[in-house]
Amino acid sequence: MHIKKTLLPHHARKSLPENPITLPFGRHFTDHMFAMEYRDDAGGWNSGEIKPHQPLQLDPAANILHYCQQVFEGQKAYRSPQGKILLFRPQEHARRFNQSLRRLCMPEVPEECYLKAQRELLEVEEQWVPQTHGAALYIRPTVIGTEGALGVRSSAAYLFYIILSPVGAYFANGLQPISLWVSDSYSRAAAGGTGEAKTGGNYAASMLGGKIAKEHGCDQVLWLDAGTHRYVEEGGSMNIFMVIDDKLVTPALSGTILPGITRKSVLELAADEFGIECQERQIAIDEVIEGIKNGRITEMFCTGTAAVIVPIGTLCYKGARYELPTAAIPDAPTIPTAPPTSTLTQKLYDYLTGLQYGSIVDNRGWVVPCAAL
Ligand SMILES: Cc1ncc(COP(=O)(O)O)c(C=O)c1O
Repeated sequence: MHIKKTLLPHHARKSLPENPITLPFGRHFTDHMFAMEYRDDAGGWNSGEIKPHQPLQLDPAANILHYCQQVFEGQKAYRSPQGKILLFRPQEHARRFNQSLRRLCMPEVPEECYLKAQRELLEVEEQWVPQTHGAALYIRPTVIGTEGALGVRSSAAYLFYIILSPVGAYFANGLQPISLWVSDSYSRAAAGGTGEAKTGGNYAASMLGGKIAKEHGCDQVLWLDAGTHRYVEEGGSMNIFMVIDDKLVTPALSGTILPGITRKSVLELAADEFGIECQERQIAIDEVIEGIKNGRITEMFCTGTAAVIVPIGTLCYKGARYELPTAAIPDAPTIPTAPPTSTLTQKLYDYLTGLQYGSIVDNRGWVVPCAAL
């Protein structure tokens, strides 16, 4: 696949952000994007183009605007101390992208094509990957149904595009503990639905719960299962973990939870690097409340590519507030050089970011230099 490039002259390009660590999440974009089109009647995907970041032209009847055939991914490119651009488990993201596409009856993007498009776009936008530890270049690959037709069926045409956004911390208050409002009425995803796919509709369904959480003075929602509202599923748009009796426990993937790549990595690191017993199982909200009250739960945190690992400080449930002894992660984290000694949340944060930014040697094949994609 040969990717055509139509690039802006250097004088027409934007200036780079001065302090990327303070950038609000996902509001600034680089100069260029990747775009590739699919048509049933033209033999599938074309070979794609890197071109200036620009608005899309869509038929007002386009499938995405009415029936929401849409799938996306969220990744980051990190700058190592030696100046190399690194990606974290990019093949896993490519695989999840295709799982989501299959669930939405959309055409898959061949893995090598997904990775090559990223590599070539990152090579063009190389200078946008921040030098600062803690900041990164967020990568948003997306596919949308573009056919203009109002019948409810799979689109016959699609657009795969990638945009890039330099980002600092996901939450405005950095890595301070967040508060979660436990929703026992609204749900994010139901059994048999699309919860395990990364598709826009799941996020649309979560907006009202998020708004109510804010009205209750909380940062995010703690989602329970849609059937019984008894079991913990996710924290906002992140996976959720807790330390119960010194074991690291997270809800088992049930089809309604997004199989997070950070989640999978944290489970492996906790077991292998810190010798912690890990459990993936059903966790009742009653067990969580009881565990906070009687001190058996000592830490809770959320994980995701955008937010990395965020400590949870407070749960609000049925009108009561439950406080955890969770400590903040120091704001401008330093590059870890010695084995960490503090909370498991902090140790995992330091180890994971150490791997992602290339200051801890990766012997699992998780960290891939951009040039090797
Ligand atoms: C709903 C939801 N859960 C969990 C995650 C965390 O997934 P990952 O660690 O792969 O970023 C995300 C973010 O992608 C998400 O949107």
